[in-house]
Amino acid sequence: MAAASREPVTVTVTGAGGQIGYALLFRIASGQLLGPDTAVSLRLLEIPQGLRAAEGTSLELLDSAFPLLRSIEVTDDASNAFDGASVALLVGARPRSAGMERADLLEANAAIFAPQGAAINEHAASDIRVLVVGNPANTNALIAASHAPDVPAERFTAMTRLDHNRAVAQLAEKLDAPVGAIDGVVVWGNHSATQYPDVAHATLDGRPIPELVDTEWLDEVFVPRVARRGAQIIEVRGASSAASAASAAIDHVHDWVNGTGERWTSAAVTTGGANAEAAAGYGVPEGLVCSLPVRSDHGEWVVVPGLAVEARSQARVDASIAELVEERDAVRALGLL
Ligand code: NAD
Ligand code: LMR
Repeated sequence: MAAASREPVTVTVTGAGGQIGYALLFRIASGQLLGPDTAVSLRLLEIPQGLRAAEGTSLELLDSAFPLLRSIEVTDDASNAFDGASVALLVGARPRSAGMERADLLEANAAIFAPQGAAINEHAASDIRVLVVGNPANTNALIAASHAPDVPAERFTAMTRLDHNRAVAQLAEKLDAPVGAIDGVVVWGNHSATQYPDVAHATLDGRPIPELVDTEWLDEVFVPRVARRGAQIIEVRGASSAASAASAAIDHVHDWVNGTGERWTSAAVTTGGANAEAAAGYGVPEGLVCSLPVRSDHGEWVVVPGLAVEARSQARVDASIAELVEERDAVRALGLL
């Protein structure tokens, strides 16, 4: 991707008329996604019912006179939306409605993410990077990747950065420390309540966090609070997280493109190719999109290999992996993978 580009980079956002779209697009246009030297052209994809809202957002984007924003296009045509895209943020998804079973939800979302994967395959730029935010994010990313055979699978990722940020924020509050002093947190598994936020390797200014907090707080408060934070936000706010989700999406893509240095973060990445061995070391089979400890190096997510995982923690990691395998198998059984 062109750093300090003269040519604008095309960024496609699906579900652009929704809540996350509204929180995300202004940050992209202001340069927070790709940096202050990179101009962007935005493509906003919506379904017909969402076009009016996306058009409203596009009017406000124009009115913000962002120096880096070169153009905005609103469309309900995926081929057009992904044409020449270097970054695709797949936010729009089918929410679970009353009485909907898990398999129905997977099927409804496969009907969205399979054609979007195919449109990315056909029309995106060769350096396309995809972040799936819409739930169930990991499996939606897997479906999209499987319909884009010409795009390297590792270019498809799903968002667990919000879970990672939630975990860091909880630790910072508990330890009365700035978030920037904390490193080495890992969120393992699925972006769901089975995820496992793990502090075994986390540090506060280089001091091991497991020596600073008691196990009871970790087990009884920290892990369930982070894993169920999404549900808590829905209960308290009356709608699912939007600005914090948008912020995490910015963090994910910004770090992917610009690198993380020696620090690490969490991202749900494809567990094949160059990352197959490191993922297998944590018991993650190939062919999933699973949250793991990652660094970004030269624009690629690299799984941090060989961390020691205690048996107790591994059991929790395994449970979340089992859920990912179940979701994958359910989609396969429907003939959608
Ligand atoms: P929202 O309902 O406000 O907006 C979703 C938008 O997507 C709507 O405007 C809708 O018209 C559009 N849409 C639906 N199907 C589409 C399609 N096929 N193509 C293009 N657009 C389509 O929802 P939101 O609050 O913005 O959340 C979006 C998704 O993000 C949800 O699935 C939510 O569960 C998920 N989410 C994920 C995380 C995470 O950490 N991974 C965090 C928060 C929310
Ligand atoms: C979140 O973690 O905030 C969301 O994924 C919750 C949801 O179901 O939209």
